Amino acid sequence: MKDIFFCPEESNFYSNCLENFALRNCKKSECIVEFGSGDGSPVINSLLRNRFDGVIHGFELNTSAWKAANSTIDEYNLSHKYIIHNSCLFESSQIEGEYLVANPPYIPAPDRDIYMPLLFGGIDGATVTNELLSLGYENVVLLISSFSNPKSTIEYAKAHGYCVNSFLVLPLRFGYYSSEAKVKKHIEELRKHKIAFSSDDYYFLAGVLFKKRQEESVVDLSNELAQVMTSLVN
Ligand SMILES: C[S@@+](CC[C@H](N)C(=O)[O-])C[C@H]1O[C@@H](n2cnc3c(N)ncnc32)[C@H](O)[C@@H]1O
Repeated sequence: MKDIFFCPEESNFYSNCLENFALRNCKKSECIVEFGSGDGSPVINSLLRNRFDGVIHGFELNTSAWKAANSTIDEYNLSHKYIIHNSCLFESSQIEGEYLVANPPYIPAPDRDIYMPLLFGGIDGATVTNELLSLGYENVVLLISSFSNPKSTIEYAKAHGYCVNSFLVLPLRFGYYSSEAKVKKHIEELRKHKIAFSSDDYYFLAGVLFKKRQEESVVDLSNELAQVMTSLVN
């Protein structure tokens, strides 16, 4: 299990965001696309707690995680609702869906030689997150970290026609992956340049629902989100 992403606090938060921002808004048999399913537990727990008549297509590159997820999916007879592909979403032919959801890799580091290379989010941590906002999905639910250039993501989303419809924020203690010496040192550098925002021990993780801007849509909490995500400093 050591090579599978493990952070129950974060995965449970992601699961709650999925329920509040995606599953409960789905009225028909909608399709949801998920980037980076991990061991599948966040989606599986959400499916067990909610009525959802659609299908979730997950993408997970880590074969051990993909196998673990499939075994739990079988155990709960959810294989008609949750299908995980052992491939990269960016390299697969795009599946249409009303929602794209992800707790994406967001660890900032000088290179991908970190505890779990599949958690590498680029030098500022926001590279994969921002790429997910370029795929054109109508609704995108993402976890965003305050030490991963959150301002760039909010600006990138705006430039790609999204507004921030709702968000939830969880203060998290630096965990196993973000406390790796090389990563922590890099985050310190990013903090000096106001690219990362955290205290010495804590950072904010936001679950955000981005929606493509429509004429009549007036709700845009981008400024409020930016304010919260840049507020944590020593
Ligand atoms: C932060 S973990 C989240 C896992 C799970 N969703 C959760 O919240 O517990 C990110 C996941 O994305 C996967 N991943 C990274 N790059 C990927 C890619 N290009 N395509 C598919 N999955 C990827 C990683 O292997 C990892 O399992």
